[in-house]
Amino acid sequence: MVEMEKRPIKITETILRDAHQSLIATRMTTEQMLPIVEKMDQVGYHSVECWGGATFDASLRFLKEDPWERLRKFRDGFKNTKLQMLFRGQNILGYRPYADDVVEYFVQKSVANGIDIIRIFDCLNDLRNLQTAVTAANREKADAQVALSYTLGDAYTLDYWVDIAKRIEEMGANSICIKDMAGLLVPYKATELIAALKDAVKIPIQLHTHYTSGVASMTYLKAVEAGVDVIDTAMSPFALGTSQPATEVMVETFKGTPYDTGFDQNLLAEIADHFRPIRDEALASGLLNPKNMGVNIKTLLYQVPGGMLSNLTSQLKEQNAEDKYYEVLEEVPKVRKDLGEPPLVTPSSQIVGTQAVFNVLMGERYKMATKETKDVLSGKYGATVKPFNEEVQKKVLGENPEVITCRPADLIPDELDTLRKECEQWIQQDEDVLSYALFPQVATDFFKYREAQQTKIDPVMADTESGSYPV
Ligand code: CO
Repeated sequence: MVEMEKRPIKITETILRDAHQSLIATRMTTEQMLPIVEKMDQVGYHSVECWGGATFDASLRFLKEDPWERLRKFRDGFKNTKLQMLFRGQNILGYRPYADDVVEYFVQKSVANGIDIIRIFDCLNDLRNLQTAVTAANREKADAQVALSYTLGDAYTLDYWVDIAKRIEEMGANSICIKDMAGLLVPYKATELIAALKDAVKIPIQLHTHYTSGVASMTYLKAVEAGVDVIDTAMSPFALGTSQPATEVMVETFKGTPYDTGFDQNLLAEIADHFRPIRDEALASGLLNPKNMGVNIKTLLYQVPGGMLSNLTSQLKEQNAEDKYYEVLEEVPKVRKDLGEPPLVTPSSQIVGTQAVFNVLMGERYKMATKETKDVLSGKYGATVKPFNEEVQKKVLGENPEVITCRPADLIPDELDTLRKECEQWIQQDEDVLSYALFPQVATDFFKYREAQQTKIDPVMADTESGSYPV
């Protein structure tokens, strides 16, 4: 019998980013992470995803931490492992499109502070929104990974995915990620999809999914058999539920096969021991909702990410309209169709979800449209895979609306200089202007807090400034 050629599967560890973003609202602190970094560095991970996504916002807003400082500390600790971040294309780590100069500077500073791999996605899969970030990453000699937001719908055929993968390879990406944020990719579809992509492109293919619908580890198994190069997993204390499949489980699954990772389970067990008390503490404080740990089969029924479901619940609760939950859920796919059937991922998931809530609560569809809905229908977020519903477009924007078809950022003038002037008084490092660019109010509050902390330490300054800010 011919022995199968060895093809060890590579692993991206997500516990320092997506896992805690998905399970405990991104609240893990740098202090909780740093003591285990040295051990994690010995595992042999392909990369550790540890930055970007919602971590930037959450650090500044809730943890009163400088996200740049966190990144530098990771870089100091991870001497052998590549550091990876998640980047929302032209939206960077924020919720609106930025000018190219901000995108370029953000990429430059991310790499300068320690990032090796930048995973870049766009909520509409409009590749024009990724080009600036990809080119900037290439220039900084970082790995540019383009992530396709995976979704289901009439437009999303195998041909669609193959075609877009080829275009990604052509645009200069170093690898492709299938980003299945809702856990919609079922095992046998993964076989089909990965096989087709491996046929179509030469660059490595990575798969990212969530356990939300319960199929994720089986999906990984089929994807690995079909030739996927890298999978995303999370250490067991922060795995499963709305997070990723467990690292240790996938490692054990492939042991003794051609896909053997070669990871040391004893080392992994020590790492898990570090994170387990953090999980238990989050459970005790209510930060970790046990609901997030189970299988939510509604994500398959309604094809929406788990995070979006909980957002809808809280929006309806605020309006005392929890009884409208199922009505809203049925409205979501309709709004999505009206808006050109985009994937549902930040920020399109929030835009579609909020509009669906409005449509139901107002008793008339599009009686009121959010600014973001208007912007989508005006082309300001980019091109959607299907055309907009023209009647809805007319109702929302009026007759003869101004609709753009160019790359949206082509219309955004450079903004770094203006931003720098706006936050001049707070700047202590080059990177501060980027924090301010993304979250002006939150960053300013953080800068004030930071200054207050510093004056507390410096007794000469303490008399004049202390006490006026939250500590
Ligand atoms: Co994810």
